[in-house]
Amino acid sequence: MHPLLILATALLGCKTDQDSVPVGDSVPEIIEVDCTASCEDTSTAEGKAVCYSCQCKSAMDGWLPSQDEFQCAEGEEIVIYSSDSDGSLSAVDDDVATCANPTLLYGTCSPGGRLGQITHGTVTAKFICRRNHYVAGAASDESLPFDDVGIILYNARNGASCWFDDNDGTGIAGRNMPALDLTGDDADNRAAFLGYYYFTEGKSCTSCHDNDPFNYTPYLWSVNWTPGSYTFGSFQRVTTSGALESNGTSALTSPEAAACTSCHRISSGATCSNWAPDSFGAAKGAGYEQRVVNAAADPESDLWWLGTWMPYLYDGDTQVKDHAAWESQYGRARDAVQACCAQPGVDSTGADGTACTWEQTPEG
Ligand code: HEC
Ligand code: HEC
Repeated sequence: MHPLLILATALLGCKTDQDSVPVGDSVPEIIEVDCTASCEDTSTAEGKAVCYSCQCKSAMDGWLPSQDEFQCAEGEEIVIYSSDSDGSLSAVDDDVATCANPTLLYGTCSPGGRLGQITHGTVTAKFICRRNHYVAGAASDESLPFDDVGIILYNARNGASCWFDDNDGTGIAGRNMPALDLTGDDADNRAAFLGYYYFTEGKSCTSCHDNDPFNYTPYLWSVNWTPGSYTFGSFQRVTTSGALESNGTSALTSPEAAACTSCHRISSGATCSNWAPDSFGAAKGAGYEQRVVNAAADPESDLWWLGTWMPYLYDGDTQVKDHAAWESQYGRARDAVQACCAQPGVDSTGADGTACTWEQTPEG
């Protein structure tokens, strides 16, 4: 069976109506949060965690996901696939070193991870519960701790983002994720949170999550990925001071790249160095099976499209597999992205003659 990937049709329409504030009855109220008390003492690990939780709650308009909805077991299963000689994909349940959709962070192919996505008004929250080591039957075992858990919250109304990362392998399993809201007086929840998570304001995260807060890769083929207005929205990080900080990236604005950048930014961090080259097959990361690596390197191959996951996100039914058609629509943009990403963020003339221009990711 082919992995199902449904793109929000709104985005396929591209850069037209990017109004991030929904209209109608369902708009949640913006609840003001005063963090004076929560941020009184940030000299301890607990004080920092409580303050950050409060500043995030405030930046997310008074909302944080409930503990019940934010559990690894509530996420969709991240299925690992292997390709056949005709290019069809089948789910892998074994311990394999390579696959058609390794995680581009770890280069591993272990089944049983989970991805969760929740939207609330203008806020999008995604969590990932990763499996980087093979354990038989992991996908159906809710008591087996994950190898790495990460959480990102983003508010399109103000561009604020919050980041949480566990210490890896500390015991977050299917249903024991503590609540992110530490502003109350639940001491047990606070203790559980501090046992799992280290303190970060996400600065290191945004070198990789550079285009926008969320990174889509083929590892996530099996999930019903829901993009949003966040792909073009302003993008900053929440800090314990309450101020939003820039993530320091800029996005390519050269018209030659428009075939790509009409749908989302191409940014000067890891999108330039890793994700974009991987997406059009110029360089494949670790963990891809040989068939995919070969396909990416050979435009003449009948399977060339196995190594190219943009913009036709892999969906056996609709993916255009005609190389000439892809080339004529996206070839120029690919060349511009490659040439300009050689000097990410620097206005310059690319090796192919493209006038490379960049613009700082919008803030506020
Ligand atoms: C070295 C690059 C890199 C860094 C640094 C990084 N990530 Fe990621 N992250 C990825 C990639 C790539 C994915 C997409 C899934 C995959 O292929 O593994 C991802 C996916 C995620 C997801 C799932 C939602 C999504 O955007 O796909 C979350 C949540 C996440 N990361 C959180 C974090 C947090 C929190 C930090 C900082 C503590 C962080 N990441 C730092 C590369 C990185
Ligand atoms: C029809 C729309 C569309 C076009 C055209 C398109 N993409 Fe994408 N692309 C997407 C969507 C949707 C995502 C997921 C964005 C998200 O949720 O962050 C994505 C994600 C990506 C990512 C992963 C990083 C991220 O922000 O998630 C890369 C890299 C990427 N695209 C490269 C390209 C390149 C290079 C081109 C041009 C050859 C291109 N895309 C053209 C829709 C498109």
